[in-house]
Amino acid sequence: VFEKVPGAPEDVIFALTSAHKADPFPNKVNLGVGAYRTEEGKPWVLPVVKKAARIMVNDDSLDHEYLPILGQDAFRKAATQLILGADSKALKEGRVGSAQCISGTGAVFTGAQFLARHYPIKGATCYISKPTWANHRAIFEGVGFTVFEYPYWDAKTKGLDLKGMLIIMEMAPAGSIFLLHPCAHNPTGVDPTPDQWRQIADVMAAKNHFAFFDCAYQGFASGDLDKDAFSVRYFVERGFELFVAQSFSKNFGLYSERAGNLTIVAKTPKIKDQIESQIAKAQRAVISNPPAYGSRIVSLVLSDKDLYQEWNQNLKSMANRIIEMRRLLFNELTRLKTPGSWNHIVDQIGMFSFTGLSAPQVKVLKEKYHVYLTDNGRISMAGLNTKNVQYFAQAVDDVVRN
Ligand code: LMR
Repeated sequence: VFEKVPGAPEDVIFALTSAHKADPFPNKVNLGVGAYRTEEGKPWVLPVVKKAARIMVNDDSLDHEYLPILGQDAFRKAATQLILGADSKALKEGRVGSAQCISGTGAVFTGAQFLARHYPIKGATCYISKPTWANHRAIFEGVGFTVFEYPYWDAKTKGLDLKGMLIIMEMAPAGSIFLLHPCAHNPTGVDPTPDQWRQIADVMAAKNHFAFFDCAYQGFASGDLDKDAFSVRYFVERGFELFVAQSFSKNFGLYSERAGNLTIVAKTPKIKDQIESQIAKAQRAVISNPPAYGSRIVSLVLSDKDLYQEWNQNLKSMANRIIEMRRLLFNELTRLKTPGSWNHIVDQIGMFSFTGLSAPQVKVLKEKYHVYLTDNGRISMAGLNTKNVQYFAQAVDDVVRN
């Protein structure tokens, strides 16, 4: 019956992980997937996560019963407080809802699916940044939206194209949906400044656009959880109704546990309840109810003063190692006098650097040097360490010159 089903292309990011794994070359480097690595190039189970897991093993009150459809209450409360701030007016007014989802992807999907079914403007378009994480387009198109791009990356300045972004926001039909990265933009590592966020909010408010934030890197960008939440909190203060997809994959290193949350800021508590009820109905038909393990770790750490502090230290050590790798890579390229300007490597923040390398250059990096990165020139900074950064810089120097 399925002879006519065409084969689909492999996911580019996961394909890089498999290709790297299969490569026998001893000095191979994986700068593909956005997953933290230690100085030894190994995945890192955060010490605070290990501690929380040990506490849970000895907690006889925990069992493997189903969670409620919208997830674990303590987790949802902790997650919404983390992103909005415990003193958020919207929280106090009881108009913030949430749904525990299958990490960030699940949260974006859940929000997108709700919008596809219930957004009042029929035929509304979703705008994503150019470039963005490939899954954004896949998710929004998957639930039936037409997806357009707004300018974001300025190849000339290797920074934000604010002007282009604002022009498109002004030109977009009123009430369009804009997917925004609150911090550590994936793939560019370029974020608007607070003043630029104010300008973005001005246009979005004037045009009645809907803001959907995808927050995968809170605390990971700067090491400061509040600073990384600035844009979301600012939009909430300005009175926007909005969605925030939160992932705890990166900032807790809980990649495979799929711990995520969709925070919903509604106009009134009643509207919040209406939205949550629809999301519960939809969630039941897709995952029935979310998994418990990762969310229990997150809520335990977020609700305990000592564990919370330790988590902050763990976060800072990841953020700082990445910042240090940016500095080392920049220094190496400067030492080698690699043609071009490389300041953007140190100016960008978060997990990724958007190097400006072209697809043909990336191909040579892969084939000649066994360095794996996405074709758009994005590198996962965590894949670098003091042992491979020179090798990588040499390889970049070679492909840029030839
Ligand atoms: C990435 O962009 O590499 C990560 O967010 C992993 C993923 O799911 O694509």
